[in-house]
Order: sequence, then structure tokens, then C-alpha cells
Amino acid sequence: MTDTTASTTPAPDPAAITTIACVGIGTIGGGWAAYFLARGYRVKAWDPSPHAANRVRSLIDAAWPALTELGLAEGADPRAISVHTDLAEALDGAEFVQESAPEVLEMKQRLLADIDRHAAPGVVIASSTSGYSMTEMATEAVHPERLVVGHPFNPPYLIPLVEVVGGEATDPAAVAWASAWYERLGKSVITMDREVPGFIANRLQEALWREALHMVANGEATVEQIDRSITDGPGLRWPLQGPMLTFHLAGGPGGMAHMLDHFGPSLRSPWTRLDAPELTQELRDAVVDGCDEEADGRTVADLVVERDRAIIAVRRLVEQIREGAA
Ligand SMILES: NC(=O)c1ccc[n+]([C@@H]2O[C@H](COP(=O)([O-])OP(=O)(O)OC[C@H]3O[C@@H](n4cnc5c(N)ncnc54)[C@H](O)[C@@H]3O)[C@@H](O)[C@H]2O)c1
Repeated sequence: MTDTTASTTPAPDPAAITTIACVGIGTIGGGWAAYFLARGYRVKAWDPSPHAANRVRSLIDAAWPALTELGLAEGADPRAISVHTDLAEALDGAEFVQESAPEVLEMKQRLLADIDRHAAPGVVIASSTSGYSMTEMATEAVHPERLVVGHPFNPPYLIPLVEVVGGEATDPAAVAWASAWYERLGKSVITMDREVPGFIANRLQEALWREALHMVANGEATVEQIDRSITDGPGLRWPLQGPMLTFHLAGGPGGMAHMLDHFGPSLRSPWTRLDAPELTQELRDAVVDGCDEEADGRTVADLVVERDRAIIAVRRLVEQIREGAA
């Protein structure tokens, strides 16, 4: 007989939540853990890697100055995290679960079923997946109704966006609960009504990346030129106005209507030019070498510090501009 306890037990009151479980604490799960700690929650974590506990503590230490600058919740404590060697132990007492294990479908299917088996009834379980649908991932879970996608952006402790979407078997109440919960945490939430591979933002990012890889493969542009074409070009407009509003303004007084009517026919060729590039060893090496060259001796840790400082500055500036316009 199917156990219906989880589906009949309501999710915890978000205002009363104190403890969150993070399953998988690499780049994204560790970033989530840092964010939850900064918002004043206690975090219980599980990760099979023997290095996970040390790695996550370093990640939290590196993120804490940025989080402090943005403002910590009362009582926020970077040490309020425990890393467990047993999944059931990590989930004991957790009132929300964020899964951030590697992007391997069979692993996610097994892991989400295991989490579902051990998490308390009613607790909502969110996956950080970058592209799998919950319909694909929930196949082995006994209570798929409480499984949702909560897709963050790197680093989850600074980028506000989270895309929330359920699978075919997810209870719409779990999707609504997760969206309200992330909003309560201070996130900018997009709740999607239907599953789309890659959700919204990754589809857009990957379309750009696909074109960039083709240009490197064809010798049409270098890695550095591609990055600068965005950072010194359209990227400067995007923090405030997304790609649609950007083109609305590009149409002059006639706006998007003029843009589409005027440029639409000539865009047919770039819109339809390319399929996925073949990721040959040569292309892979050209892109990796180009990034090393562009980094110019700066380590990934150096670049993280620069990136975090820049994101905070840009977020502050956009907030000021929006407040001035309100
Ligand atoms: N990196 C990004 O920019 C990004 C952005 C958004 C979402 N995501 C998604 O977040 C998830 C994690 O990605 P990441 O970049 O943090 O990867 P990562 O490799 O940095 O971290 C994965 C962690 O999972 C652990 N792990 C391995 N097997 C596990 C298992 N069976 N159960 C639990 N944990 C396990 C690993 O030890 C590691 O610590 C993926 O689903 C990815 O698609 C990544």
C-alpha cells in the first residue's frame, strides 16, 4: 500500500522554520548553505566526499564578507552548519531540503528517492538541477508530490534569481510553498507553469554559449573577444533591462514593434544559422586555453572575489536607480 502520510501532511509554516538540509555541498550546495546561514538558519549537510566538510567551510568563509556587506539576519552564524556522514541523520529535523548533487540523472533519481524516504512528512524537497525536469527525476520517489525544482544561479548566495517548477506528479501546493519560501528568503522567484528543458535563464545562457563556441571553433572570434563583446557591450544594459526591453529601446520611438518589423526579416539568417557545435578536443582546448589567457594569472579564487564585489556594486546601483524611479 502506498504511504500517503507525506502527501496528507502540510508543509511546515515557513515562519517557524529553523533548520534546512543541504544534500550535496559543492559549488552550488555550499553556496546555498552560506546563504541559508546568512539568513539565520541552521544547516545540516550531507555529501559523500571526504573533503566536503573542509571545502564547504572554506566556501562559507570566502562568501561571508560579501554576505556581511549585504546584511546578515539577526543571529546569523557561519558555524551553524553540521556535516553528517549519514543522510538520514542530516535530514533528521530538517524542515526544507535543497539537493545539489552532480548533474547525473540516475544519481538524482536515486538520491531524491532516498531523501524522500528519510525527510519528515510534508517537508518540501527542492533540486538545484540546471536542466533536468522533475518529471524525469522523480521517477523513483514514493512521494513525488513534494519534489520541486529550485534552480539557483552561481553564486546562490549573491544572485537573487531562483526558478521554481514542479513535475507532472508534483502537488501545485508544493510549488506554491517553495516559491513563497524562497521569496521569504529574499530571492527573486520565477514560478514556471510548465517544464521547459533548461528552464528560462539557462536556455538563454546556453543559446549564447552555443553561438560563442561556434565562433571559437570557426576561428571567427577569440575567447577574450567574446567575453568583452558582452561585458563592454550588451552586458552593461542587462542588469537593469533584460534582452527584450533592450531591443524595445533599440527600436527607437517605435519600440519593439518597429524593431521586429524593421529587423525581423534580416534576422532570419542569424536566428537559424547554427545547431549545437561539435565539442571536439580541439575546441575544448581552445576555449580552456583562451580562458587561462584571459584570466592572466588570476586564480579562480581571485576571480570569485572580483565577481562578488562587482555583483554587490551592480545590485546596489540598480536598487538606487529603481528607488529613484519609483
Ligand atoms: N555550477 C553552476 O553554475 C550551477 C548553477 C545552477 C545549478 N547547478 C546545479 O547544481 C548541482 C550541483 O552542481 P555543482 O556545480 O555544485 O557541482 P559540484 O561538483 O561542485 O558539487 C557536487 C557535490 O555533490 C557531491 N556528491 C557526489 N555524489 C553525491 C551523491 N550521490 N549525493 C549527494 N552529493 C553527492 C560531490 O561530492 C560534490 O560536493 C547540479 O545539479 C548542477 O546542475 C549548478
